[in-house]
Amino acid sequence: MRNSLNPKVIIRKKRDGKKLNEHEIKYLISEYTKYNIPDYQLAAFLMAVYFQGMDFKETTDLMQAMMHTGKTLNLSEIKKPKIDKHSTGGVGDKVSLILAPLMASCGICVPMISGRGLGHTGGTLDKLESIPGFRTNLTLKAFKRQLKKLGVAMIGQTAEIAPADKKIYALRDVTATVDSIPLISASIMSKKLAEDLDGLVLDVKFGSGAFMADLEKAKRLARTMIQIGKRFGVQRDSRCRKIKVIAILTDMNNPLGKYIGNSLEVIEAIESLKGRGPKDLMEVTFALGKAMLKLAKIKGGKKLIEKKIANSEALNKFKEIIYYQSGDVRIIDDYSRLPVAKNRIKIKAQQTGYIHHIDTFDIGLLLVQLGGGRLKKEDKLDPSCGFKIHKKIGDYVKKGECLMEIICDNRSKARAVAKQMHAVFTIKRKSCRSKKLIRETIH
Ligand code: URA
Repeated sequence: MRNSLNPKVIIRKKRDGKKLNEHEIKYLISEYTKYNIPDYQLAAFLMAVYFQGMDFKETTDLMQAMMHTGKTLNLSEIKKPKIDKHSTGGVGDKVSLILAPLMASCGICVPMISGRGLGHTGGTLDKLESIPGFRTNLTLKAFKRQLKKLGVAMIGQTAEIAPADKKIYALRDVTATVDSIPLISASIMSKKLAEDLDGLVLDVKFGSGAFMADLEKAKRLARTMIQIGKRFGVQRDSRCRKIKVIAILTDMNNPLGKYIGNSLEVIEAIESLKGRGPKDLMEVTFALGKAMLKLAKIKGGKKLIEKKIANSEALNKFKEIIYYQSGDVRIIDDYSRLPVAKNRIKIKAQQTGYIHHIDTFDIGLLLVQLGGGRLKKEDKLDPSCGFKIHKKIGDYVKKGECLMEIICDNRSKARAVAKQMHAVFTIKRKSCRSKKLIRETIH
């Protein structure tokens, strides 16, 4: 046993496809979180897990080890139903920015702990931080205070809550170790089970812009997280309360909405809260929102959600979140206060026909190349850059028509990305239909 509590031995064991026990996993995660194991050793471990996988027992041991590196919340003073939503990650996915205030305006308490950009996908925290002054690193005390006052707060993993995920997430982002069912499940559930929730709605994405390219793998991921919720639930004061988890499988072959890029997505989220959201983005938002209301046992469904948008309560709630988290609330009415690049390059169709495929994964990577994501952990983001998507799968285009725009003030980066962008769209003469966006719900 003593012998195996050695990072090299544990890495080798996983590399060779053997199962790890609870002590080995706990040791590796807690020592890494305390900076006693360096990044390069944990990166090697993550790559071993990526290739060899983990069974359910190892996955739950990993999730628990990660969760217990930090505190778990006790929100028992808050009487409202506590429901959160989390996405497995997609390109243009800004649903959390819309849904958190929207659900809070419907009477749900939303204690949302999110992440930064991961791999080719953007992150809620990076998007929120494009709002001047916005703070995502609240203390637990401030987080709870805000939840009591507003019914919603949006933070990241901190030194107090989910610290292991904070470190491991950043490492996975830059070491191509994201798209692994045990690593995603442990990452998401270690944060969510620390939140003292009554219920959780998962947006499990599949397709070219998701981490799970095919539906079957996405379903496996969804079932793993649902099982974790069922088996472990919320652990508070050494008692365990089961939480209800609903997973909705959504198609991520197209970028979601019209804009990709940190501050551009904030603007699109605000427009959505003003009732002007694009159809696909609102369809996903409504589906997830309805599931959250169902878990909260709040009646009204889509009608209630639409009402909260129409009467501006959801928008006002977002304004309050920005205010309480030290951001500049003037951005709600004046988008020029957000960093948005001025230089635009149009990508035009080279032939007439129907769009059959969009390589949404590559679009995400090209955003990283523009500066909207990280190549190294230490990289500073350019929140102002991104893309505007004009055409999606199934659309008819004429030669010369605009497919999308690159928005970036670094002209040499913009030109380099423009050269690669044509290959992202597959256009054929034969007509083609887009597929259903909401594919399945797993309870
Ligand atoms: N979201 C997370 O929090 N973690 C992942 O690994 C993927 C998406």
